[in-house]
Amino acid sequence: MTPIWVQLTYLACAVCFILALKGLSGPKTARIGNLIGAAAAVVAVAVPFFYLDLDHLALILVAIAIGTAGGVFGAQRVQMTQMPQMVALFNGVGGGAAALVALLELHELIPLTEIDGAVNWFTLAATAFTILVGSISFAGSVVTFAKLQELMTSRPVVFPGLPILFGASGIAAVVLGVVTVTGPAVWVGVVLALVGLLIGLLLVLPVGGADVPIVISLLNAFTGLTVAAGGYVLDNVVLLVAGTLVGASGTFLTMLMAKAMGRSVANILFGALKGGSTLGSGEASDRPVKSAGPEDVAILLGYADRVIVVPGYGLAVAQAQHTLRELVEVLIARGTKVDYAIHPVAGRMPGHMNVLLAEAQVPYEQLVEMDEINGEFKHTDVVLVVGANDVVNPAAKTTPGAPIYGMPILNADEAQQVVFMKRSMRPGFAGIENELLFDPRTTLLFGDAKDSLGKLLNAVKAL
Ligand code: TAP
Repeated sequence: MTPIWVQLTYLACAVCFILALKGLSGPKTARIGNLIGAAAAVVAVAVPFFYLDLDHLALILVAIAIGTAGGVFGAQRVQMTQMPQMVALFNGVGGGAAALVALLELHELIPLTEIDGAVNWFTLAATAFTILVGSISFAGSVVTFAKLQELMTSRPVVFPGLPILFGASGIAAVVLGVVTVTGPAVWVGVVLALVGLLIGLLLVLPVGGADVPIVISLLNAFTGLTVAAGGYVLDNVVLLVAGTLVGASGTFLTMLMAKAMGRSVANILFGALKGGSTLGSGEASDRPVKSAGPEDVAILLGYADRVIVVPGYGLAVAQAQHTLRELVEVLIARGTKVDYAIHPVAGRMPGHMNVLLAEAQVPYEQLVEMDEINGEFKHTDVVLVVGANDVVNPAAKTTPGAPIYGMPILNADEAQQVVFMKRSMRPGFAGIENELLFDPRTTLLFGDAKDSLGKLLNAVKAL
């Protein structure tokens, strides 16, 4: 029987996890939310040392020390733009750990199954579920990490027979799961884990390009469910609650991201199997465009009454958010009305632009969500697109079959003038040409965004 003080501490930790999620839902409270969640996790990990008679204490402490050192080192070194792969890695490790714990638990449960009524079928089913889904999550996350880190191609990988192999693995997993309940044996658990690893690989290999981060979120939900089932098996309430929260939030995030990209989750996972690539060719166009220097663009901006800035992934790459904020401040001081238009999937992770601009102390009121600002582009003199591409690509509205077709976009094409700041004619993440670059109302200011914005700022100040 778990002591009352432990149960109460776990309850407090569970409440803290919920408060942490609440805090993370707003930029002002996100930092404190994160700290509350982290503190509760530390307490939850520490509690077993005080009430359980643990074997292999030294090994456990060494493992915790290695994990902590790896986590701190990784978190300090990671670039903001590499956050999605970092999440994938952490997520995979979580799923893999849950699967290993469930395998060990199966080993402990097997002798008890000889005693009538000592182990119920549901516990064995939850163990099988944890082994299977944890392994899927581990293998899938490792592949998503490799794709985003460009250790392998980020294009969909498909081969003849993949759907059949996938189907056969699914059937094998169900059969092995049933055997784990009816006649449990360690080897069955090990084979189930191997089949899980195979399913994880086959699930993620055909996913390409812009869809990969959505799959991370889906695998995150899988890990949550795995941990929740593990909590049931180990009779640990805090694991059950934390896993359920991760499972639910991962599911919501997956659905929100898929909606923001105008795709269904089934299409993201199985689109490539049906023959449709989720990524364009990625080749730069050599068609002529109208380009200008910072002084010309400064004149355009200087005489505009209404300007909308569209930030994108390139702003994060160039780390030009501070210079952009300064430019906007100067324009506002000159009497121009300026807002930032925030597309839900601009950048490479949810909330990427919000975090980037908050870091540069941009007032939150200046960040306007897509639905709210889309009606204003037609009354706008100049749209300044800084390192964004796909989120303003009209192909999403006009070209059925384009990888981004159906994705809601910012209506930059409705403004009087559009200025793109980018380094070359290379396309964005989806790898397809943007017709807006060739529009007669569009001007390109080529160069690294930080460099160009610095020159533009000086030119606007000099007007
Ligand atoms: P992208 O379409 O990827 O375009 C980024 C642009 O930035 C490119 O045109 C690139 O052109 C330019 N760029 C890169 N480095 C630059 C630098 N140092 N200075 C100036 N420009 C630079 O970005 P987006 O419009 O933000 O769209 C995001 C894409 O990512 C969408 O397709 C979205 O679906 C996908 N995605 C987003 C998420 C989330 S949750 N945010 C998740 C997964 C996928 P040059 O190379 O010519 O400079």
